[in-house]
Amino acid sequence: MLFEADSVVSGYGALEVLHGVSLSIEEGEIVSVLGANGAGKTTFLRTVSGVLDTWEGKITLEGADLGPLTTERRAMAGLGHLPEGRGIFQNLTVRENLDIGLGLRKDGSGEIRRDRDRLLDLLPALSEKIGDAASSLSGGQQQMLALARAMITRPKLLMIDELSFGLAPNLVEDLFELVTELRDEGGTTFLLVEQNAGVLDISDRTYVLKTGNNDISGSSAELKDSQDLVRSYLGNE
Ligand SMILES: Nc1ncnc2c1ncn2[C@@H]1O[C@H](COP(=O)(O)OP(=O)(O)OP(=O)(O)O)[C@@H](O)[C@H]1O
Ligand SMILES: [Mg+2]
Repeated sequence: MLFEADSVVSGYGALEVLHGVSLSIEEGEIVSVLGANGAGKTTFLRTVSGVLDTWEGKITLEGADLGPLTTERRAMAGLGHLPEGRGIFQNLTVRENLDIGLGLRKDGSGEIRRDRDRLLDLLPALSEKIGDAASSLSGGQQQMLALARAMITRPKLLMIDELSFGLAPNLVEDLFELVTELRDEGGTTFLLVEQNAGVLDISDRTYVLKTGNNDISGSSAELKDSQDLVRSYLGNE
């Protein structure tokens, strides 16, 4: 198992938000987490990346306990986190934003340049604007830039908080397609947190969170057609 969260409890100050969430991911999988507003999806990602402390339970990456590690050490261990909101520096160019991701890489500059070129091949809209300020990109293009910047660090596991947020349906499809390509090509493993049930089409397995607890989970294809999902999640909207 590449990643395992076992009965994770965490929250903010005195407020317990996650009451014992468990989730596992095999190498090369795309796993999605669905849940309504306030279900605890973002809190879970913040806990895994180390922004929030784990109060109880255990989180491991390649069998190593992440608990004692700082956010930076977790990133160096191969954990990528694309947070809610885009985190793009508006005044920097597209290229400068991408370069921010490179600080974590230990390999040579030739390899890094090849990676960047390969990513830009997949993202023609970005390569056209490589020298422009990020502020001149559309919302969807900024989302692509954020994804490209996260990919350039070559994470073993990339966790993405609502990649689809605020984007038109056709662009969501393109970005989901891109995630599949990145998995198939580069072997990156993905954890996609979403409110958009379209993620069922590209993920292998899905977990539904409900008020800080695990609800149903299983193969995305099976969940997609199941009444359980409608009852558990879609029915709440
Ligand atoms: N910084 C914070 N301080 C205190 N409570 C918070 C904070 N952030 C989130 N919460 C609370 O934690 C709970 C879970 O929030 P979280 O952001 O994890 O939900 P979510 O599933 O990501 O929702 P959404 O789909 O709206 O992004 C909510 O009750 C929320 O009010
Ligand atoms: Mg959230």
